[in-house]
This record gives sequence, C-alpha cells and structure tokens, in this order.
Amino acid sequence: MKMRTHTCGMLRKTMVGEKVTLCGWVDTVRDHGGVIFIDLRDRYGMTQVIFDPADSQEAWTLSQTVRSEYVIQAQGVVEARPGEMANPKLVTGEIEVRCNQIVLLNKSQTPPFPLTDKEAGRVSEDLRLEYRYLDLRRQSMQKNLVLRHKIVQSIRNYLAEQEFADIETPILTKSTPEGARDYLVPSRVMPGNFFALPQAPQQYKQLLMVSGMDRYFQIARCFRDEDLRADRQPEFTQVDMELSFITPEDIYEIVDGLLERVMQAAGHGSIQTPILRITYEEAMNRFGSDKPDMRFGMEITDLSDLFSASGFKVFASVVEKGGVVKAINAKGLGGVPIRVVEDWTALAKEYGMGGMAYIRVQEDGTWKSPITKFFSEAELAGLKERLQVDVGDLILFAADQASIVHPFLGRLRLQAGEMAGAIKEDAFAFVWVTDFPLFEQDAEGHLAAMHHPFTAPHREDREKLDTHPAECRAQAYDIVLNGTELGGGSIRIHDAKTQETMFRALQIPEAEIQSRFGHIIRALSFGAPPHGGLALGLDRLVMLMVGASSIRDVIAFPKTQKAADLMMAAPAPVDEKQLRDVYIKLAIPQHG
Ligand code: AMO
Ligand code: AMP
Repeated sequence: MKMRTHTCGMLRKTMVGEKVTLCGWVDTVRDHGGVIFIDLRDRYGMTQVIFDPADSQEAWTLSQTVRSEYVIQAQGVVEARPGEMANPKLVTGEIEVRCNQIVLLNKSQTPPFPLTDKEAGRVSEDLRLEYRYLDLRRQSMQKNLVLRHKIVQSIRNYLAEQEFADIETPILTKSTPEGARDYLVPSRVMPGNFFALPQAPQQYKQLLMVSGMDRYFQIARCFRDEDLRADRQPEFTQVDMELSFITPEDIYEIVDGLLERVMQAAGHGSIQTPILRITYEEAMNRFGSDKPDMRFGMEITDLSDLFSASGFKVFASVVEKGGVVKAINAKGLGGVPIRVVEDWTALAKEYGMGGMAYIRVQEDGTWKSPITKFFSEAELAGLKERLQVDVGDLILFAADQASIVHPFLGRLRLQAGEMAGAIKEDAFAFVWVTDFPLFEQDAEGHLAAMHHPFTAPHREDREKLDTHPAECRAQAYDIVLNGTELGGGSIRIHDAKTQETMFRALQIPEAEIQSRFGHIIRALSFGAPPHGGLALGLDRLVMLMVGASSIRDVIAFPKTQKAADLMMAAPAPVDEKQLRDVYIKLAIPQHG
C-alpha cells in the first residue's frame, strides 16, 4: 500500500466520495464544537481534514493531541464543503476530507518562529537562516525554489536545442582573476601548495574552445571572497557559456532567446526582442550608470555648451577645465521639502563636488533657485527647452569632471525616480550595454582589466593597446535588467601574442605571466579558434523573476553578510591533526 494516494494540493470537487490518504504537516488545528479541523500542508498545497467523534472515536481522540508542524497521515472520504464554508483562496477550498483514521508519523518541537509568510518579515533573518530547513517550509520559499528549478530547466532545454554541450569543470583549481579574493584549499600531498576555488570557470571554458567543443555551457558554482551585498553571495551560480566562431551579435541573439524562454518559464509572458542595445558611453552619458534602470526616464541632459561662457562662474569654470555641466529633470518633485535638496547637496559633496544647484518650479510657474539670477535670457530659454521644464519640476545640476558627475547624477536619478513613483515595479526592462572600456585606471594610474584580462580589445582600437591602452575599448558587454547587472561577457583574445601584450599592459611581471598564465598562453598557440561568451548570474536572474529583494531568498542555503552558514555553523575550527596534515600552523588561536 502507498503511504499517500494524493498530495495536499490535488483534491477537487469532482473527487467527492473518493476514499483518500494524505500525508503532510499540521499547519493549524482548530476545535469547533468538538470537531477537530486540521489544515494539512505539503509542497503542493493545503487541505482541510476533519475528525468528528461520530466517525471514529479513536481517530478523533488522537487528532486532539496533534500540534502545529506534527507530521501525520490521514485517511478519509472527500466531501464537498457547504457553500458558505468554501474557501475561494485555496484551490482545494471547495472540499474537505472527513477522516476516520490518523497516524502520527512524527512529532515536532514548537518552531522557533511562526512559519507563515506574513510573520516571516518580522523574524530576524539570522534566526531564519539558523533554522533554514524550517524557513524553507514557508510557501513563498518553496515557490521560489520550484520556480528556480523551472527556470534552470528551461535554460537547459533551450541551450541543448542550440547545440550547447553541458560540461563540468573542476572546483579544485588555480586562481583565475575575476577581481575578487580567492577561497584557498591547502594541498596535503604537495605541502605549502594551495588550490583556489574558481571565481568562474573562465579559463576552462576557453580551453574547451581550443579543444574544438564549439559550444559549452554549465550551471556553474563560483566562489568569490568579497564584500557581500543583497545581490552578492560568496558562493553563487552562473549560467556560464562559451562559443566558437562568433561575433557579439551571435551572443546577443542567443541570450535574447534565452531570456525570452526564462520569462515564459517564470510566467511573465513575452519580451520584445531584439533587446535594446546601447554603448557604455551612451549609458554613462544618459543614465550615469553602466547598469541603467530603463523602467523610467529622468535622463541626464548635457548643458556644457549652454553654460561654457555663463555669468555663473561655477559652471563656466568647470567647462573651461574640461569638465561638464549636466542636469536631470526630476519631474513632479518641485514640491519636495528643502531637506531633500539639502541631503542631495551633502551627497554631491561626498562625491567631491562643491555642491548641487537646483531649480524648483512652483505651482504658479515661477522658478525658485539660488542660481538662476546669474543666468542670461538665452541660458534660461535653453534650459527650458532642453529639459522641457514644466510646473512642479525639480531641476538638479551637477558640474565637475564627467567621471564625478555621471555616477552622482546616476545615483540621484534612481533616488528621484523612486521618490516620484516613476519606476514601474512590475516592468521588466532589459538592456545590453556594449563596448565597455578595456581597462579601468586607479588613482596611481595603474590599469586593471575592466572585465577580465582575457577580453579582446575592440577591433578599431587594437593598435592603441600598445600605445594608449587606457583609451582602448573592449569587445565586452553586459546584460542588465531593471538596473541590475544580470550577466557579462566578451569576445576573447585568441592569439598568444595579444594575450601577452595584455598581461604586460596590466604590468604583470614577466615571471608571473609565465607562472600564472603560461598554460593559457601555450594553449592559445595551438590553433585556438576565435571565441567568446558570457555568464549570467542565475541567483540574480531568479531573484528578479520572483520579485525578491535579496538573492538569499532564492538560494536554498545561503550565507550571511559575514559569509557564514549559521545552520551548519560554518566556517568552524578544525582539529590539530587536520591542520598538521596540511602543514598549517595558525598565527592566532582558533575560536568557534
Ligand atoms: P562576471 O564576473 O561579470 O563575469 O560575472 C557574471 C555574473 O555573475 C553574477 N555575479 C554574482 N552573483 C552573485 N554573487 C556574486 N558574488 C556574484 N559575482 C558575479 C553577476 C554577474 O553579472 N567569467 C566571466 C563571464 C565571461 O566573461 O564569460 C564572469 O564571471 O550577475
Ligand atoms: P557657491 O558659489 O559655491 O556658493 O555655489 C552656488 C550654488 O551652486 C550653490 O547652490 C551650490 O550648491 C551650487 N554648486 C556649487 N558647486 C557646484 C557644482 N560643482 N555643481 C553644481 N552646483 C554647484
């Protein structure tokens, strides 16, 4: 005999009269005039089962002893609920099961917090993570995990149709630079040597292209020891892919199709393809960000030419020094308390600017501003036209070097958009950002790879790699959704010589180039095909698909902000012998 005949989400009115056996957790128990009502729950739903002493004295007696989260088996007959007793919120709400048998499969201690979605928000996340297996009994968490599974399934199907082969790559490997710290694993066999956990399977997937595998993908676990945020985990998952004999166009097309499938799998209908593409330069100029939120306007307007000879010296002198004067029109925020404008001015100072100028357009159409008195008629008219100034608007100005103005106005745009309620919460606005710079430069002028050092320079900029590397654009692209970077990739360097030039531009000493990257340079010299790829952050993708605010809500067993697993109590001290085995002596005492 089977332990159950149906799940708790299966029974309907058409099944009235059937004899059924259900198993599950006791969600709630109620005693109504001597009859026991239990909401029985499993992953598939909830069913009301009832125990009446008139049906079975024995079952009724036992049913009185069960408590929330006990595990029971209940046997009985499906009955229609009387009309007014039906629960339209439940798919099983039109029936109940009148039981004559109950088996107590297991008891439960009282859970440390209520397992309802409504209460979960009030419980500290640390407590929920310590008892994650209970937290995952909540309906919304189960829904998230099942949807994640469906999304992964749709991705596997789609990529298989496109001739991608799913190939696993090692977890115990060598450091590969993606910009974070490595997690290290000591070797017992080779004293003093360490494996690094992969920050991404970047080099292996390129080596698979050298092997002629042509199209690779992997749902790959990646490890990065970096500062954590709501959309970052030390251990996370990528949909990782690599292709041979392609241009960026091919990648955009394949990923557009992939995202279309994912949207369908998540029940969000279709999206418009091809997905919009803008260059990095345009993204910075218009949105002040390389991951623009395209759900709303409030774009940045360049006013540098208008104010290059202005009577307002703050603006004119910035333009003279090669800087820019830019503004956004925060539509509808003309009436915000002055405190908001002061907070933003303080923020401008944090970014290194002298301040932030503004104009508030009053209800009667007059402009209120500390600076408009310095503007000429032509400047005022120009402003009005370019920013389409209207009653109730708030114009916010920033003047400085573009590298300061853009991120500041980018941040202001997001805050203003949110404040004005301009961001459509249920919209999905995808955008490709293309032609990223090859390098970023630190304060001392050192170059670092903006994506990673295997990224190919832009075709038109190849010559600059030797002469003016900082100006080099890359064949690199990101896919962005609602202001979050979903994924990134590039066309790779496929000849050994360019790869060596790249490492030198990064000022990696010759000996280190050989010790760290000798294997890849050698591989490129054996007929590597032109190739490129991309990796999507699966956790972020699922987070946005289910509308969660943290990737922790779509990962079964995530780590805390301190990169700890509270449930397993990891990381943890190890015993002396384990340390001796790997020749490690601690410089500080262990504390657990
Ligand atoms: P990149 O470093 O841009 O590229 O990573 C790709 C995507 O992975 C996700 N991601 C993360 N998600 C959660 N927690 C993290 N700590 C985290 N770090 C990154 C992001 C990001 O867009 N090898 C290259 C890809 C390639 O060139 O093909 C790479 O890893 O969504
Ligand atoms: P000041 O002449 O420094 O008193 O500045 C006059 C106005 O210009 C004030 O409202 C400042 O907040 C604003 N302001 C100063 N520096 C900048 C800047 N770099 N960008 C935009 N506005 C500024």
